[in-house]
Amino acid sequence: MSLVTLTEILAESREKKYAVGAFDTFDAMNTEAVISAAEEKNVPVILMVCDYSFEAPNADRFFADALNRCRTASVPVCMHLDHGPSFEAVMKAIHYGCSSVMIDGSSLSLEENVAITKKVVEVAHACGVSVEAEIGHVAGHEGNTDDGNVADETAYTRLADAVRFYEETKVDALAVAIGTVHGVYKGEPKLDFDRLDAIREKIPVPLVMHGGSGLSEQNFKDAIRHGISKVNFYTGMSLAGANAAREYLDANKIADLGEAVEIGYKASKDVVLKHLDIFGTQPLSK
Ligand code: 13P
Repeated sequence: MSLVTLTEILAESREKKYAVGAFDTFDAMNTEAVISAAEEKNVPVILMVCDYSFEAPNADRFFADALNRCRTASVPVCMHLDHGPSFEAVMKAIHYGCSSVMIDGSSLSLEENVAITKKVVEVAHACGVSVEAEIGHVAGHEGNTDDGNVADETAYTRLADAVRFYEETKVDALAVAIGTVHGVYKGEPKLDFDRLDAIREKIPVPLVMHGGSGLSEQNFKDAIRHGISKVNFYTGMSLAGANAAREYLDANKIADLGEAVEIGYKASKDVVLKHLDIFGTQPLSK
């Protein structure tokens, strides 16, 4: 198949009322779990890479292998930079072959977020790369398993800000804060669907929900019905893999490393398979 942009992979999601899963990877095992799950279901998927991987000792090989796996997949795959913290990080991701980038100015003032996002959109679009940005702020950090996070209502996306932000930046996808958090939730997540409806009505590009781990099947279905087109997910996949490997190691005094890795891989992949079903992801028609 082919490497596609975020715009291409999300093109039919709104109209057909499904979401495309976006899963982070930090190693070849996670990359394989994400892409082979999508191949098994015959649906498109978004493989997300992070700026921390730029600093890894094997960064060049990691990105080259991830890009190669995306390009040779039997389904459409978008390789996307998740939470790009700066213009430089975005440039690096484009250099490594990402077909989509997120510039995350959500901790900046609205004016600063608009300014950095406009700059990224201009350069990324010149390279044929899609851009996601965030307005409002989703708390926490993917992979965070400490004592959990609670959504901060004061940082939820405000409709007027979203409209102004979209009009000034013309981003290809917009991440919104409606009650999710990254990492493990403290307490029950409560999503603000009225806010999401109002944003969806005014913003013509796909909307993104970060912090997928810890939401119920019903939460996902409702969020998608109310206009979410891309769901970001990582912690749940990582925890499932780690817990399965730990169970095997705890149960076997003399353990095989390859077996532990394989067990972790399968558990992570099962989480991806399950969520691709929940998101209702459909094959692209063209
Ligand atoms: P979780 O780790 O909470 O699933 O969030 C992932 C995410 O939003 C990445 O951007």
